[in-house]
Amino acid sequence: MKHKQDWFKELVIYQIYPRSFQDSNGDGVGDLKGVLQRLDYLAELGVNALWLSPVYASPNVDNGYDVSDYRQIMPEFGTMDDWDALLAEAHRRGMALIMDLVLNHTSDQHPWFQSARQSRDSPYSGFYIWRDPVNGGPPNGWRAVFGGSAWEYVPERGQYYLHSFAKEQPDLNWEDPQVRAAVHDIVRWWADKGVDGFRVDAISYLDKHLEALDPGDGRICTAACTNLPGTHRYIRELVQATCAPDHLMTVGEVTCLCLEDHWDYTARSRGEFDMAIPFVSPIEELQGWSPRQMRAQINAVYQKLRLEGWWARFLSNHDKPRQVSLYGDAERHWEASAKLLAALLHTLPGTPFIYQGEEIGMTNIALPEIGDYDDIDTQNLYRSLVAAGVEEKEALRRAQLASRDNARTPMQWDSSSNAGFSTGAPWLPINPNYTAINAAEQRGRQDSIFTFYQTLIRLRREHPVLIHGDYTPVLEEDDNLFAYLRRWEGTTWAVIHNFGPAPQRVPLDRQNLSGKAVLSNCGRSGELEGEIILEPYESLILELDS
Ligand code: NOJ
Ligand code: CA
Repeated sequence: MKHKQDWFKELVIYQIYPRSFQDSNGDGVGDLKGVLQRLDYLAELGVNALWLSPVYASPNVDNGYDVSDYRQIMPEFGTMDDWDALLAEAHRRGMALIMDLVLNHTSDQHPWFQSARQSRDSPYSGFYIWRDPVNGGPPNGWRAVFGGSAWEYVPERGQYYLHSFAKEQPDLNWEDPQVRAAVHDIVRWWADKGVDGFRVDAISYLDKHLEALDPGDGRICTAACTNLPGTHRYIRELVQATCAPDHLMTVGEVTCLCLEDHWDYTARSRGEFDMAIPFVSPIEELQGWSPRQMRAQINAVYQKLRLEGWWARFLSNHDKPRQVSLYGDAERHWEASAKLLAALLHTLPGTPFIYQGEEIGMTNIALPEIGDYDDIDTQNLYRSLVAAGVEEKEALRRAQLASRDNARTPMQWDSSSNAGFSTGAPWLPINPNYTAINAAEQRGRQDSIFTFYQTLIRLRREHPVLIHGDYTPVLEEDDNLFAYLRRWEGTTWAVIHNFGPAPQRVPLDRQNLSGKAVLSNCGRSGELEGEIILEPYESLILELDS
């Protein structure tokens, strides 16, 4: 597909975690043929872009985020022919295909690393980050995101290599021009195959600042290496050399410590990404989240990027608990709160990212034993909590809430065995609520969450105010109200969410918000004026009288 500048602003992107989407051959693992079988479902939903989490060859220590060959498809997922067919069929339905790029690290099974670990004379020696032991131990105290030291010793070389994540994910040495050239080649190779854009994984830590290794520094490696100047330079070079000439869409998964970081990654004049997905750890979010805090953050980032940037809007992905469990109320207000979150996603400025299953309100799962979890991060969190003295039952409870497996349980297609995901035993348990929560039950039902998503996606397509309109917060006094105006060429829409379980009084006339209901998740319609009482988790979109 040919792309014009800014085309990404008109996308609604659906993220597929292929392992959990649809299995086509009964081995319990989702695959590319499975995705192909479900393209009509995605077309029915109305999305116009798909982001595939990594499908490259990988030993799956981190489920594909450890790549052993960037130009091969993981055999469990299928073949390059399957991928080619998927691209062609997605394009035939008017959907762009976005690939995930994991460039901070490779798998330790990648031939580059396999060669580099053998000897200091390997032609790939400089592709990774090696340091001599200090006092018989690692060069400093940096820890890895997934637990333990960030340094791993290799006897063949008598040296340590750096890994920000698992020890099977050695970090690439971006300082080496050969690494940058090899990475550019990979990205161009996929661009030549016809992909429409990239989501770029864990990209804030490329520049490591190793000159200043301090033996006493015990931080998490990524925290010690966030947003250094070299990282921005490498990103700019990469994007300009590969994606910018054809306007391929780019979204970086980044760490933003302050508003300036949002700007640095996405302002047009910087030449880096079109959009950013700021990473926030689920544990921090579980502790620190509130509607007021979310609103304040959204407002601040909107203001910062208003003139020169754009926003990736997402509430879920494969690294987060399910949105209705995290931000909504999956027990008492499941349907209303799932719809409120949908309305929020599609009416804020920016490009919406839907994560598979949120369109039917899929929820968290609580697996009974820590051993039932697949996610390396969940296992490590549990171990570190227990090591810190937390009682086992409590450690399990916290790990369950934060686990990335909440988002990775298989897609719930229907109420048949294994939720229609697979005819074999699924690689991760199906959420037992699949008999009630599944796509078959919701497709075509007028008041379902699925239909609500369809309506929102259609509204976005038909009303440029939702894409291009400016954004002004209103009704800011109340903690649980999240309300704003979108304005574009003489049209003004007001969007009001009651982000809580209690009814909420809204004085529409106080801020001239009288108008006609465009959409509500509680059946409200017609001309509205004066004072209204919003129901728990009600979202209301109004077209204001001019
Ligand atoms: C972010 C990815 O989204 C996550 O799933 C992965 O574990 C890390 N980066 C490491 O690649
Ligand atoms: Ca399969």
